[in-house]
Amino acid sequence: MKYVLIIGAGSDIAFPLERLYAKAGYGLFLASRNIDKLKADAQAITNEFSVEAIAYRFDVTETETHQQFYDSLPKRPIGIICLAGILGEQKVSEKEFREAQKVIDANFSGLVSIVHIAANDLESGKQGFIVGVSSVAGEKGRKSNYVYASAKAGFTAFLSGLRNRLHESHVQVLTVHPGFIRTKMIEGRTTYGFITATPEEVAADIFRGQQSGKDFIYSKWYWRYIMLAFSLIPESIVKRLNFK
Ligand SMILES: NC(=O)c1ccc[n+]([C@@H]2O[C@H](COP(=O)([O-])OP(=O)(O)OC[C@H]3O[C@@H](n4cnc5c(N)ncnc54)[C@H](OP(=O)(O)O)[C@@H]3O)[C@@H](O)[C@H]2O)c1
Repeated sequence: MKYVLIIGAGSDIAFPLERLYAKAGYGLFLASRNIDKLKADAQAITNEFSVEAIAYRFDVTETETHQQFYDSLPKRPIGIICLAGILGEQKVSEKEFREAQKVIDANFSGLVSIVHIAANDLESGKQGFIVGVSSVAGEKGRKSNYVYASAKAGFTAFLSGLRNRLHESHVQVLTVHPGFIRTKMIEGRTTYGFITATPEEVAADIFRGQQSGKDFIYSKWYWRYIMLAFSLIPESIVKRLNFK
């Protein structure tokens, strides 16, 4: 059986995505901090699809634990999918570097650590895949969330360089740029219904993109055009706008 390692498996996107992989016959390693939720999800997956699913407590920011965690997995995964991330409090980040650091570590530097560990392993086996969920936010900073956005921009650039490095080893690196997704991350924030995807829709896009060997996808697809239009607005105008 082939196994997929999900980093940030507490995400609302994780369970629908895990169901898609389990239905396709993959075993699952679920890793994030809320171990009770992961155990319940793992049990539900095993009951429904008769594949092995194991929950692990894992913190992206505790980078000193990552190699040992990866080495302790009972099987080498064929793929790693990174869903972990936090939005953080932009206003707090502006005054307290510790908050900014938390956001940067959860969305970028901690992921550099665990993804490199998996990448080195997959590279030596000359097969497999890496999926990184970044964000359209990383394409242009806005005053409401530019610390988060800059961490996502870093993660996107990291993934594109990694894709270039792993091309000859036949390891797929898929970057996902979602727009708004109706998850707990943006609970209580202003969103626009018609361009806000469900976690199930994003999970389906990720699964389809990974299985068809894609390098980069938007989720939903129309964000490609929204971001293209956004990129055409001159900076002299953007700086005056009050985007949420
Ligand atoms: N929601 C949106 O509108 C939106 C838009 C664009 C991109 N995204 C990206 O999509 C991904 C999934 O987010 P989501 O919307 O599904 O939000 P979510 O439901 O809040 O999921 C994010 C998950 O990341 C995990 N996580 C956070 N910090 C972690 C850490 N230090 N170590 C391990 N796991 C950690 C958390 O699980 P535990 O609490 O169990 O650790 C949390 O459940 C994120 O990368 C996010 O930036 C979201």
